[in-house]
Amino acid sequence: MTPPLDAALRGHTRALLSLWRPDRAGPPDRLTHQELREVAQAVKRLSAGLSGERTKAGRDYLGTEDGRTAYLLHFWPVSYAQTRAALQLAGLRPPAGGGRVLELGAGPGPGAMALLDEGWGELHCGDRNPDALLSLRALTRDRASTFLWDGEAEGGALPPGELDLIFASHVVSELWKRAPDRIERRLATLQRLLGRLRPGGHLLLIEPATHALNAELLTLRDAAAAADLVITAPCVPQGPCPALAEGVACHAATRWTPPPLTEQLTRAAFITKDAPAFSYLCLAAAPPPHAPPPGAIRVISERLTNKAGRERVVTCGAEGRRSLSAAPGQGESWREAWRRLGRGDGLVVEGAEVRETGLGLTAASRVRPWP
Ligand SMILES: C[S@@+](CC[C@H](N)C(=O)[O-])C[C@H]1O[C@@H](n2cnc3c(N)ncnc32)[C@H](O)[C@@H]1O
Repeated sequence: MTPPLDAALRGHTRALLSLWRPDRAGPPDRLTHQELREVAQAVKRLSAGLSGERTKAGRDYLGTEDGRTAYLLHFWPVSYAQTRAALQLAGLRPPAGGGRVLELGAGPGPGAMALLDEGWGELHCGDRNPDALLSLRALTRDRASTFLWDGEAEGGALPPGELDLIFASHVVSELWKRAPDRIERRLATLQRLLGRLRPGGHLLLIEPATHALNAELLTLRDAAAAADLVITAPCVPQGPCPALAEGVACHAATRWTPPPLTEQLTRAAFITKDAPAFSYLCLAAAPPPHAPPPGAIRVISERLTNKAGRERVVTCGAEGRRSLSAAPGQGESWREAWRRLGRGDGLVVEGAEVRETGLGLTAASRVRPWP
């Protein structure tokens, strides 16, 4: 059974703390005041190195005690929550028996743990950092196998055999980071990896949601579309990305209640308390048996409310970017779905009215989740 996100995270943060302080006593689910002071500094340093100029991206920051501490105690729970959200938003469920998964740049295992919790079976996790892989093995209790992998080495050795899912989270943007032809190199890597999938298999990437890295992933997405690769999420259109063309972002957010450890560190390191946003892209080995249903769209903005109380989200679908709005107090059948709708969600809308500014839901409209 899939454990609920928040409960699972509370358990995993206890395991992270005991892995981080194996020989010291301390509260099982949070840091002591003294520990918090030190760890918050490490989190600030790594956050600064992975944003803006991204001076630490592509470097072996997990190979330092400072970087390992910050990653295990702060970034791990965020990546775990993002992986579970991305799998759900992309509609990826394990095949009978759990399927076979390759994870690249797996680090200390937040993605591996999320995949296991979501019911995926045989996991093969690669990274260039052997200590991170030891942490992954410890945290997953050896339910994943690991191998050393160098993402920038052409055709870096991978375990043999066909795969149901290939997953890489917060790693593709670190490959060839400064090379002018990085998009072409990353695309060639994706094409090689897609050749390893079973029919019906998928390749899922997660990346940060910052403006520059979101645009870089959308550029890779457009290069994939131009090379006729099959994009299954977050996009409905297979042609050029409407958001990228207009210079706006397309990313998703995970909804969670941060575990006590994350609450503590978010406060102490002055990190935004917003739900951790992320970019993602899902490609398929072959076109899926069914095209997205007519009316399938993806929410790509926050919810906005005008003075009259009409709520609006920006969506992306076969018609490109369009707004979808709803007047207050209408629509018995879809009101609850509308209330819960957030950035990144997919939905199918039928029977909407065409308004000057986009589509409007009416009492007769129907709304259902997609995929
Ligand atoms: C930001 S961490 C992401 C870890 C984990 N996937 C997550 O989502 O939290 C980037 C990971 O990619 C690995 N990495 C970066 N460049 C790499 C390369 N050229 N070859 C192999 N691994 C690499 C790092 O060691 C690190 O584990």
